[in-house]
Amino acid sequence: SSDVHDPLRRAHELAARFYHHLFMNTEQGRNAFQYMENRGLTEQALLHFQIGYAPNERSSLTTLLEKREFDVQSLESGGLLQFPEDGRKAYDRFHNRVMFPLHDLQGRVIGFNGRTLHKESKPKYLNSPETELFKKNEILYGFHLAKQTVRKKDQLVLFEGCMDVISAWMAGVDHGMAALGTSLTTRQAKLIRKLTENVVLCYDGDHAGREAAFKNAQSLQSVGCNVLICPIPDGSDPDEYIQTQGHEAFRTLVYERSQSVTSFKIQSLRREKNLQREGEQRLYIEQVLEILLDIESAIDREYYLKELSFEFNLSMEALHTELNDLSRKQH
Ligand code: GTP
Ligand code: MN
Ligand code: MN
Ligand code: MN
Ligand code: MN
Repeated sequence: SSDVHDPLRRAHELAARFYHHLFMNTEQGRNAFQYMENRGLTEQALLHFQIGYAPNERSSLTTLLEKREFDVQSLESGGLLQFPEDGRKAYDRFHNRVMFPLHDLQGRVIGFNGRTLHKESKPKYLNSPETELFKKNEILYGFHLAKQTVRKKDQLVLFEGCMDVISAWMAGVDHGMAALGTSLTTRQAKLIRKLTENVVLCYDGDHAGREAAFKNAQSLQSVGCNVLICPIPDGSDPDEYIQTQGHEAFRTLVYERSQSVTSFKIQSLRREKNLQREGEQRLYIEQVLEILLDIESAIDREYYLKELSFEFNLSMEALHTELNDLSRKQH
């Protein structure tokens, strides 16, 4: 559509092509290219995801836009360029970063996620700011590339970051998307639900990743999704897991080891406890019951109660009584 955002859209398309060209074909982009090669990315993946490089110069994109006769001033709120307060000349927002183009649902470039090449420079990832075009909370990284596959497989794998999506794609898990970070809006959850009701959350194996998985599982369930959690080992993330354990191991983890949210929570709890000790056993049982309080389905609850009953040789009556007590305490 030829709306007011047209110049900004065209500027983003041009920027994406410019960055991608520098990355793939030039001496300037060589370090960045090598960085991504070292991280295991194949040429096919670099092309598929249109990976780019923003050079270290002050205004290479700005200059290009001027050359192509863009009214640079009109791009002021567009997120690609910086406009100094003192009225000096505009310059580029992104410098010396690997560029991941971000697309809207139709596959048009609307922003970028730029990663530093060096551990020292902060922030590690620099996003486009929120603009008329770019609303981070309304898109999912990889949406336009994966939506058909998601429909076909009737499943979606949700990651935290771009690198996770790309590595997974190389490993044959090509129905992945990312919300670029750990938060997921209702709008994004609904977007997912329109494609499929089956979601595997494949978040980082750290505290933040687990907390996000629990929270986002709830949002997804509340729009009608079935959610599984993929157990990425502690201290690792999907991309690292794929690099160190390989494609086959990752596919097995996603397709065969993913668990219901409740099982995942119970298993995490279990790892923290030494169940040989009686005191800890008691605490463990109580904490499992607390997890079960959140389950709406009586059938599911019964299933986990039976497991407890079996493992610790407790009567179902005793467990139900305890559960009711806990429920009264909470409400
Ligand atoms: P790599 O080192 O490249 O593998 O990144 P990571 O695995 O450490 O990324 P992390 O799990 O920390 O973050 C996942 C996603 O969150 C990234 O793809 C970014 O979109 C976003 N993110 C991470 N760090 C930052 C940051 O410093 N600023 C912003 N704006 N976003 C970030
Ligand atoms: Mn493979
Ligand atoms: Mn993380
Ligand atoms: Mn990570
Ligand atoms: Mn990572």
